[in-house]
Amino acid sequence: MPAHEIRPLEWRGDARTGALYLLDQRILPGREEWVCLRSVEEVARAISDMTVRGAPAIGLTAAYGVVLAVRGGVPAAEARTILARTRPTAVNLIWALDRMVAHGSPEPQGLLELARSLHEEDVAGNRRMAETGARRIGSGMGVLTHCNAGALATGGVGTALGVIAAAHQQGKRIHVYVDETRPRLQGARLTAWELARLGVPHTLICDGAAASLMARGKIQLCVTGADRIAANGDTANKIGTYSVAVNARHHGVAFHVAAPFSTFDLSIPDGSRIPIEERDPSEVTAWGTGRTSPRETTVFNPAFDVTPAPLIRSIFTERGEVEPVDAAAIARLARSAS
Ligand code: MRU
Repeated sequence: MPAHEIRPLEWRGDARTGALYLLDQRILPGREEWVCLRSVEEVARAISDMTVRGAPAIGLTAAYGVVLAVRGGVPAAEARTILARTRPTAVNLIWALDRMVAHGSPEPQGLLELARSLHEEDVAGNRRMAETGARRIGSGMGVLTHCNAGALATGGVGTALGVIAAAHQQGKRIHVYVDETRPRLQGARLTAWELARLGVPHTLICDGAAASLMARGKIQLCVTGADRIAANGDTANKIGTYSVAVNARHHGVAFHVAAPFSTFDLSIPDGSRIPIEERDPSEVTAWGTGRTSPRETTVFNPAFDVTPAPLIRSIFTERGEVEPVDAAAIARLARSAS
């Protein structure tokens, strides 16, 4: 698949007979296969098992899931309940579901048009965010990213990876360090796959190698995506992001976040109120088909952590850059027209 065609989801066909297709992210980079979904239950399963992942992509998938629900006789409000519980941290999921339910149409056609317009909104927003963030990246910089916040995680070019790709496309000479991102390896499997297709020079590292690279002066800027940003700027993202931000602060490296406005949750004052998804212990205790730890060992497997706002230099959004990252600046962002 060429770089400009990387996309995690698409609706094929009309509202009456069409279906939602997802690029199966569980088996990348080994195989590029699409799965076809025709019911809200199938969509809920695909979000839970991470066939599709990344906060904006999850939201869009759920929006199309409401179309399938209503077409199958499941009311939109019931579809919201089924889909909202699949992954609790990414607030884009709730945002998209609320927009679909508020539409109030009993017709799949009207709902499909709305889902498509949310999708297009994400594409355009990603582009604006990428332009904003790329200004911060200078030629010669080493840039670190964690997890996958690329085209695979959104409807468009991505958030953090969109910023990186834009800097590269502007001719800036950059080198990207990709955290492998234990335990699901979104960095190794997905971000490296996207960067290879985009032709961006990159090096894959174990998560634990980032601090020593910073100490050696190899990294000048870190940029990650986000799953939920509280009203004060505390930011939930993939587990390990907080360590990146702490290490960046220690070494005087700028740590930035890139996220659309739909990732902000102004109903919660700070990060302590962000629900953190805990996933199955088997993600940590097994590697391929083999166990990597004793059966009796207990596991703590949170999928996300919260980076406190004071560690974040700025947030790139489709509405511009938020700096400093605090409640007043975020309130101003909320008031600004999109
Ligand atoms: O568990 P995942 O793979 O859904 O986690 C994804 C992330 O943490 C991303 O950084 C975040 O959703 C932003 S994607 C643009």
